[in-house]
Amino acid sequence: MTKTILRALARETLPVPPIWMMRQAGRYLPEYRETRAKAGDFLSLCYNPELAAEVTLQPIRRYGFDAAILFADILLLPQALGCDLWFETGEGPRLSTITTAEGLAGLKPKEAIHETLAPIYETVGILSRELPKDVTLIGFAGAPWTVATYMIAGRGTPDQGPAHAFKAADRAAFAALIDLLTDATIDYLSAQVEAGAEVVKLFDSWAGSLKGQDFDDFALTPAKRIISELKARHAGLPVIAFPREAGERYVGFANATGADCVAIDNSVSAEWAAENVQKDSCVQGNLNPALLVTGGEALFSETRRIARAFSGGPHIFNLGHGITPDADPDNVHRMIEAVRG
Ligand code: CP3
Repeated sequence: MTKTILRALARETLPVPPIWMMRQAGRYLPEYRETRAKAGDFLSLCYNPELAAEVTLQPIRRYGFDAAILFADILLLPQALGCDLWFETGEGPRLSTITTAEGLAGLKPKEAIHETLAPIYETVGILSRELPKDVTLIGFAGAPWTVATYMIAGRGTPDQGPAHAFKAADRAAFAALIDLLTDATIDYLSAQVEAGAEVVKLFDSWAGSLKGQDFDDFALTPAKRIISELKARHAGLPVIAFPREAGERYVGFANATGADCVAIDNSVSAEWAAENVQKDSCVQGNLNPALLVTGGEALFSETRRIARAFSGGPHIFNLGHGITPDADPDNVHRMIEAVRG
């Protein structure tokens, strides 16, 4: 029996959609917080294959999701390229900044990344041995634009202003950074597949702030290059793309990039996405993660509405963005029950 996630990614319409959740391993789970404390901090957890595999498995055991996503972070790649990276408790990531062509020249070549990232491949290897046979293992990386926004600003920003400013000041240097990240991401994801990842996902969390030609040059083209090169190296590898808040640019994204599935945030309606995006590919996403905090009738009815809207084509049930630390773990059971029940 082919795994349900792989069937949906092969464009099969299933009577009940398979389910997983963005950030399913995370702070809303007491067992995650306990394991993170054992590791010391978040980055030590990412680089500890035994414990990273353990937190990846926790939501599978608790909820029986159809997919497990490797526990790591999109910012490990810039760290492997030579950026300093740390996490400020309660605030988020901090990195040394790259704002000029000279700064870019100080990064390591893509060949250097595996030295830092070897423990991540080890985590994938453990998971591919330990996961239940019907659960699909998803590897991932950040898309070049999103990763670049953190490398340029040194932190998360509401409008990606520093990255847009770099792009405006020196488009050639900015494009060179995107190219380096594109090449390094291909090798990083390829190594995850060699270690046992069955599907890969590309997170472009800030794609929505790229407009017009910039969206083509820095969201679409890098995704297309990553996906075509990965599929050339690994025949039949399914790829999920998440150009978050792309709006109208979700339309045609799968055909233009070769993605098998497009993840949809919750700023567009499921009915619109069913008509305009699902016609070309599998879709996943759209449930507002805030509903897992508030629960109740709205969680039930929205879950049912999304499942119904996407029921006519290939669909993986998921959230529009990551589950938040204040979510109630019991609401996840209620969501799953509303999909499967
Ligand atoms: O369960 C999973 O989804 C797999 C693991 C995963 C993490 N981050 C773990 C994590 C994945 C797939 C990511 C992706 C990621 N990381 C993205 C893209 C998706 C998105 O959310 O838009 C981004 C932008 C990052 C960068 C990042 N990492 C930020 C901005 C933060 C701080 C904000 C926050 O939510 O805390 C992180 C930290 C992070 N990554 C945590 C986890 C579980 C929380 C850290 C902790 O335990 O203290």
